[in-house]
Amino acid sequence: MTQTSGRDAAPPDPTEYDPFSYEQDEDPYPVYRWMRDEAPVYRNERLDFYALTRFQDNLDAFLDAETWSSNWGTSLEFMDGPKGDTGLMIYMDPPRHTRYRKLISKAFTPRSIGALEEKIREIAVGYLDALVGRPRFDAVADFTARLPMDVISSMLGIPESDRLEVQRNSNMILHRDPGNPMPVKEAFVAQAKLMEYLTKHIEDRRRRPRDDLMTRLTQVEVPDDDGTAQRLSDDDIRAFMILLATAGNETVTKLLATAFHELWRNPDQRRTLVENPDLIPNAVEETLRFDPPSQYQGRVTTRDVTLHGRVIPKGARVLLINGASGRDERRFPDPDRYDVRREIDMHLGFGYGRHICLGASLARIESRIGIEEFLRRWPSYEIPPDGIRRMHSSNVRGFSGLQIDAR
Ligand code: HEM
Repeated sequence: MTQTSGRDAAPPDPTEYDPFSYEQDEDPYPVYRWMRDEAPVYRNERLDFYALTRFQDNLDAFLDAETWSSNWGTSLEFMDGPKGDTGLMIYMDPPRHTRYRKLISKAFTPRSIGALEEKIREIAVGYLDALVGRPRFDAVADFTARLPMDVISSMLGIPESDRLEVQRNSNMILHRDPGNPMPVKEAFVAQAKLMEYLTKHIEDRRRRPRDDLMTRLTQVEVPDDDGTAQRLSDDDIRAFMILLATAGNETVTKLLATAFHELWRNPDQRRTLVENPDLIPNAVEETLRFDPPSQYQGRVTTRDVTLHGRVIPKGARVLLINGASGRDERRFPDPDRYDVRREIDMHLGFGYGRHICLGASLARIESRIGIEEFLRRWPSYEIPPDGIRRMHSSNVRGFSGLQIDAR
């Protein structure tokens, strides 16, 4: 399979960037480079979208939520109309977004998340210790997909016995068949099952409050447009739970597997981390810069925008490709080099501005602990040539399988 570096890849085909292309999924970085250099305001007529790739352009757009609206959704295949009634704050604009975000953000501050460190380590160690002694295992199925689901489930209050079923349903909602970006029939069935499950638990929390996020969501109040405090509706609570359960799973799963893959490709970098585990937090940031799990954030313009001499008209669908911005040499020297010692003052791997990843602290701590505990057990693992499977989605990038030969 093609390696994921822009460094030694074949020259890009500059005719089209297609976020649904399996071929480009293998290594989108050459086409991103061409877009940054030759088409900083890229236009795809066939799929009807624009795209920005340069670091500064995307940073400016992330910081201006009034011009770059999230209300049409953030993933190209779903940007077919306003998503105002979904209750998902990721699709809301200010001021509604600000109100919704405020009521949940306290649970995700670095301080609240720091208190979970011991619990997160216990979960990670449980999965990894169970693999010790096996000559080969799948880092995704056996570890990176399990850790974030367990962590967010325990925060929300989903009991252990239900987690596999909840995860199966959440994954099915996200599943896409080759060549078809839309959800499959089974996805709607899974969604109905998940809704029914959550409704039952929300009722239970209203009757018997517990010390978990689900209970907190039944108790918080959010001011409506005229300032009157309102409890969240069941629809809103379900939307919150689904967003929290889905936003953090795929992404951490992919980030950890990408880090393991990149560290295997760069054994000198891996050795550096084994010898200096205090650099692991920086390796997490470098991975988010180099090959982030969430490659672009979709927006719709609320006015005409002129950039680099081109006009993006009001109402246009625009992909802010943060995956491309991490490789922008205008911001990062030698950007195609994966360097765990790189000094990074800012990257766009978690987006930026009002919608900057709510779970960033949680993602950072899970990823740090995941890498620490993994390298402690397997400091010089190998990945067999047929052991890499890439998943395909328009904006999530990473592996669905990564075989590890233990050593
Ligand atoms: C490495 C892991 C992760 C990555 C790369 C990531 C990436 C992102 C990005 C790029 C955004 C911005 C979306 C936009 O601007 O439209 C975002 C938002 C969000 N993320 Fe994450 N995320 C990660 C982990 C998590 C985790 C663990 C949670 C757990 C709760 C989470 C919850 C959210 C939520 C709720 C939002 C929406 C925030 C808002 O609209 O204000 N994420 N994430």
